[in-house]
Amino acid sequence: MAVPLRVLIVEDKEDDAALLVRELAQGGYAPAHQRVDTARAMELALTAQPWDLVIADYAMPSFSGTAALELLTASGLDIPFIVVSGAIGEETAVAAMKAGAHDYLMKSALGRLVPAVRRELQDAEVRRSKRASEQALREANLRLRALSSRVLEIQETERRQLARELHDEIGQALTAVKINLQALLPHLRAGAGAQRIEDSIEIVDDVLAQARNLSLKLRPAQLDDLGLPAALRWYLDRQARIAGVAIHFDSDGLPARFRPDIETACFRIAQEAVTNALRHGRPGEISVRLACEGPVVHLYVRDNGAGFDVGRARNKAIDGGSLGLLSMEERATLAGGRAEFRSTPGNGAEVHAWFDEPARVAR
Ligand SMILES: Nc1ncnc2c1ncn2[C@@H]1O[C@H](COP(=O)(O)OP(=O)(O)OP(=O)(O)O)[C@@H](O)[C@H]1O
Ligand SMILES: [Mg+2]
Repeated sequence: MAVPLRVLIVEDKEDDAALLVRELAQGGYAPAHQRVDTARAMELALTAQPWDLVIADYAMPSFSGTAALELLTASGLDIPFIVVSGAIGEETAVAAMKAGAHDYLMKSALGRLVPAVRRELQDAEVRRSKRASEQALREANLRLRALSSRVLEIQETERRQLARELHDEIGQALTAVKINLQALLPHLRAGAGAQRIEDSIEIVDDVLAQARNLSLKLRPAQLDDLGLPAALRWYLDRQARIAGVAIHFDSDGLPARFRPDIETACFRIAQEAVTNALRHGRPGEISVRLACEGPVVHLYVRDNGAGFDVGRARNKAIDGGSLGLLSMEERATLAGGRAEFRSTPGNGAEVHAWFDEPARVAR
């Protein structure tokens, strides 16, 4: 069965166009063709319907193969363009190919036409399916990005609510129980009863401390109430105390508040970077710096610990080995920024995250 083929023939001579059509028909195609020999006619034809192929003569009285090629390129359509000319010098042929023609041949060697068409149609199909896969990949990436942004947003909202409930509801209820128990104590004679009340007060104190720690771990209220520099200062002081490692923090001259998504991203990235440094690097000290350059916010977390091979760690993470490095990158990207890791074994490590979008907000 003949293969349907929509051919736009740029040719001033009707007879030569007929020859081309006959050649294609003999080669197993069922050509549906239109002949044009001016720029205007070609423009109209290109917008009127889709084409599988353009065959163009090179020199015509009121149009040319070069102009036809320019017109096709400007249209943005990816259609194989084959020059078939009565007389075309080698230099002209090379220039045509450089300008984007897919092939050229002489009218005296029309036997080459069908193989050339077959090959160019196949190549065009490969290009089309590559474009389609790239488009599908771009869309899948956008969907994934939207999904991961939503997941992080939901996670932060839930953490914020849980942290508040733990702190306010449970914390306040336990504090009331403790006050009541303390009020009971003077009315009891020393003995088993009083001892039990004292034990209970101790248990309530422990649970209160645990609820408070849990609440801070989930999401420190400082981040929402006081802003990023204050929350980081508080968090880093606390980590330094717990780990017994010096952590320096510098955020001089910065505004108290930034865009909320940047505040959350920076805080979480600093948390992961400091945790990694303490857990894997065993450094003598860590320094954290928050700085603004124009509208750009930079976060640096440096440690002077064991360091690591960044390429290897990232590959392992991508294979599902760990989450920290990837989640720092993902959080930075979702807040309109980037994160980079610099480290070599033996030379400490640095996490640098920066956010290009205007980060300051008026509140
Ligand atoms: N500051 C650091 N110093 C030394 N090694 C580090 C440092 N940060 C990361 N690494 C290395 O990179 C690896 C990957 O880090 P990543 O945070 O992705 O994973 P993880 O901390 O092992 O696990 P998790 O998924 O809980 O974060 C670590 O296992 C560690 O070997
Ligand atoms: Mg980690």
